Amino acid sequence: MMSDNLRMAREFEETHIRDISEEERPVFHLTGGVGWINDPNGFSFFQNEYHMFYQYYPYDTIWGAMHWGHAKSKDLLTWERLPLTLAPDEEYDALGCFSGSAWEMDDGRHLLMYTGVSSLEQDQSWKNVRQTQCLAVGDGVNYEKYSSNPVIRPEDLPFEIRMSDFRDPKIWREKDGTWNVVLSVMTPEQNCRIILLKSRDAVQWNYCATLIESTHALGGMWECPDFFLLDGKQVLLVSPIAMEPEDHEFHAGHNTMALIGSYNPDTYEYIPSEKRQIDNGIDFYAPQTILTPDGRRIMIGWMQAWPNSKFAPPGVKYFGQLSLPRELYIRDGKLVQEPVKELLSHRKNPVILKDVHIREDQNSDCEKGLYDIHSRQTAFPGIEGRVIDMTVTVKDLSRLKKLDIRVAADTEHHTDVSYVPKRELMRIDRSHSGYLFDIVHSRDMHICPENGVLTIRFIMDRHSLEIFINGGERTGTVVLFTPQKAKGIFFAAEGETVLDIEKYDLVF
Ligand code: FRU
Repeated sequence: MMSDNLRMAREFEETHIRDISEEERPVFHLTGGVGWINDPNGFSFFQNEYHMFYQYYPYDTIWGAMHWGHAKSKDLLTWERLPLTLAPDEEYDALGCFSGSAWEMDDGRHLLMYTGVSSLEQDQSWKNVRQTQCLAVGDGVNYEKYSSNPVIRPEDLPFEIRMSDFRDPKIWREKDGTWNVVLSVMTPEQNCRIILLKSRDAVQWNYCATLIESTHALGGMWECPDFFLLDGKQVLLVSPIAMEPEDHEFHAGHNTMALIGSYNPDTYEYIPSEKRQIDNGIDFYAPQTILTPDGRRIMIGWMQAWPNSKFAPPGVKYFGQLSLPRELYIRDGKLVQEPVKELLSHRKNPVILKDVHIREDQNSDCEKGLYDIHSRQTAFPGIEGRVIDMTVTVKDLSRLKKLDIRVAADTEHHTDVSYVPKRELMRIDRSHSGYLFDIVHSRDMHICPENGVLTIRFIMDRHSLEIFINGGERTGTVVLFTPQKAKGIFFAAEGETVLDIEKYDLVF
């Protein structure tokens, strides 16, 4: 039986989705039907297709009582929208169905585990909330909440926790059939613990271990944990709230962090040896991963983050999108991200320029480019666009003082990626992208060239820019509210350098 809240939300979505044209959306990044979305949820492979759910408030472009939206895909890039899945309609999730995950069951049904949020007070206020873990089971389209929800409650743990901070279950199944879940909890002393529970049937859960405890040094609550083996290392992805910046990292308040280490599954001992911000741009949070049938670990994040989430530009009809799916690897002990290989077959209309000289004075390779004396910028025929995959290889850093690559540009707008070799500093800056609020618009990241060469891959999809530096050693993600007519790409140097530029349109 469908609840009134679910029926109402589905009807609302069906009616209002017609107000948004496909041209207003990105081409291959997933957006919600209408309204607001945040974290990716339930990223899973079910009956031979990828399923993605997301935190969803269909009624407005701001966060509200959380529902789950749903879409599926065969290639991780073209998504088919499915009916809204969960609405807050039970006493235990009356304030929202928070983030969670999914897995295919032996009987061919799809299992979801999510955090139900309810109020401990009669007035349903946010002052005193209780978070518990709940199940829903479905066929890939319709889902029913488990009749004995919640299945994991704060009082099921062997130690005291804050009722309001017990959330974001990530489930997976071991080869022997054991169900596992990692969850984030806060102790009364406000330390965050990532805990592991196990189960035979996904209903009765036993607490096994605290994998790691953070004592304020690295922020407060670590939201949305994900824990997996990757290239022989054990990776813990978390999104810590209120974390202090360190050098050029963790400036967002709400950050993303990858811990890389070793793990003994017999003793549950997890020893991280490396820590890093997952994405060094502005708009990336709460990522979730999947292991694909061909053995790739793929991560998708919310392409937004809490600090800027109150700044939907006036008039937008939906707010929030998910990031490009990224393949994860460990290289030299560090987490590396690459755009999914599925993107390659969408690369069309190549424009390939080799050994382009960019100079400060009477700039550039005039044979190939068009130099504008006023702006000191060079454009190259065919190098433009807003739905593109472009790699710039900076081959000579010895005489370069500063390189500027300007994208999504016209006379009024531009977003810049710049690099200063002496300081080994890259900056991504969308101050002039047309975003109407004076919020944070730029981020710096520390980048060392590899063997004297720097590569920057730009993936653009109408309303976003994701850069992958030195083969994905670092990434930077920003959303752009720049009009689509601003599609110019320009290059400028202080000092001089030599570039290879390889640009494709991404065609779907
Ligand atoms: C992360 C998060 C989760 C929570 C959800 C609520 O962005 O705060 O911890 O489950 O969003 O929408």
